[in-house]
Amino acid sequence: MVSRMEEFQVPFSRGLEGVPVAITAISHIDGKQGNLIYRGFPIEVLAQFSTFEETTYLLWFGDLPNKDELENFKRDLIEHRRIPDFMKECIGNIPRDTHPMEALRTCVSMLGCFDPDKHDTSRGARIRKAVRITAQMATIVAYAHRTRKGLELIDPNPNLSHAANLLYMLTGEVPDAETARLMDVILILHAEHGMNASTFAAMVIASTLSDMHSAIVGGIGALRGPLHGGANERVLEMIEEIGSVENVEPYIKNALAQRRRIMGFGHRVYKTYDPRARILKEYARKLSQKSGQTKWFEIAEKIEEVVIRELGAKGVFPNVDFYSAIVYKMLDLPKEIFTPLFAAARVAGWTAHVLEYLQNNRIFRPTSIYNGPTEVEYIPLEER
Ligand code: CMC
Repeated sequence: MVSRMEEFQVPFSRGLEGVPVAITAISHIDGKQGNLIYRGFPIEVLAQFSTFEETTYLLWFGDLPNKDELENFKRDLIEHRRIPDFMKECIGNIPRDTHPMEALRTCVSMLGCFDPDKHDTSRGARIRKAVRITAQMATIVAYAHRTRKGLELIDPNPNLSHAANLLYMLTGEVPDAETARLMDVILILHAEHGMNASTFAAMVIASTLSDMHSAIVGGIGALRGPLHGGANERVLEMIEEIGSVENVEPYIKNALAQRRRIMGFGHRVYKTYDPRARILKEYARKLSQKSGQTKWFEIAEKIEEVVIRELGAKGVFPNVDFYSAIVYKMLDLPKEIFTPLFAAARVAGWTAHVLEYLQNNRIFRPTSIYNGPTEVEYIPLEER
């Protein structure tokens, strides 16, 4: 029997647009107004006052921590920053031309094999795994980058915050307070974003009662694609290819004429400016002015103007990946680690959703509409 639309309880929606798949108290996006809240707190407030550690605690446990809780949580993350020596060797053996997202995916999978709680499926063990994965992913991102560049690996510094230590392990230099704060803001802005593709991928895996590491590996794989977190790297490629403010208009018009996607624009939920992009734009502006290197920001602003003029009526505006690319460029970070940095932050959201969903788990098992042939006669091989 060929299935028919009428047989389904809910209408078919390509790409699951508008289909709720879970009930969550973790975050909410108002795509019309351009608002985002984590556990009720506007993203602008968290970006101003919070830290990545505090935000992660909030996402996982539902409330802001008190002083002791935060200190304990930070200590826990610091204690788990190191990765085993065999993993360092493993990263060293990965071919140099491997993208750091592939290295990250491979290493998180390997961490799962050695996790001390790997046979424990309790909530407590899941939280411990979430702590370890969150702490270690930052180290892996830094090591994958440095190994690729032939640079010495830097031990994590227990006296630095998660954000400052990440920059330190990447660059070999302890960042100044302003740069460390900016990295914290970047991590907070990328930590969580509702039922995006990578979070859903992680949840689908977790819903089979598979393990936390598998779920996060799935999240990393989904995030990598250019329609999702992989867009930030493409944004900088595009901006560099455009090269000057004068080239923006013809480049964008030509791309749109060829029905190409402009990276860093558009969103399934936001039909207006992404609030995270608004915050990052101001940082990009300030960093550009401070460095005197305003060219990249000017090109970006011109792209924004042209794209909004051409596509604003369809609800296409800059998303988080657009200005984050300029911010990273101004921090002198190489583009192939833009998406790994996104992953190092989003792991907070992936794990938060996995922890929440598993408290009332039901396996994800949707359906599909069959439109293939029926009652086909099987012809033996020798007669075909
Ligand atoms: N460039 C050109 N046109 C676009 C773009 C874009 N970036 N985004 C949407 N549109 C157009 C699209 O062509 C369509 O037009 P029409 O109705 O005439 O066919 C309309 O807007 C609606 O687009 P859609 O494909 O139905 O939107 P979607 O919800 O399926 O896709 C998206 C969302 C993010 C994949 C898409 O906007 C896109 O490809 N953007 C570029 C990649 C990107 O920046 N991704 C990062 C997303 S935000 C952060 C993250 O998740 O990592």
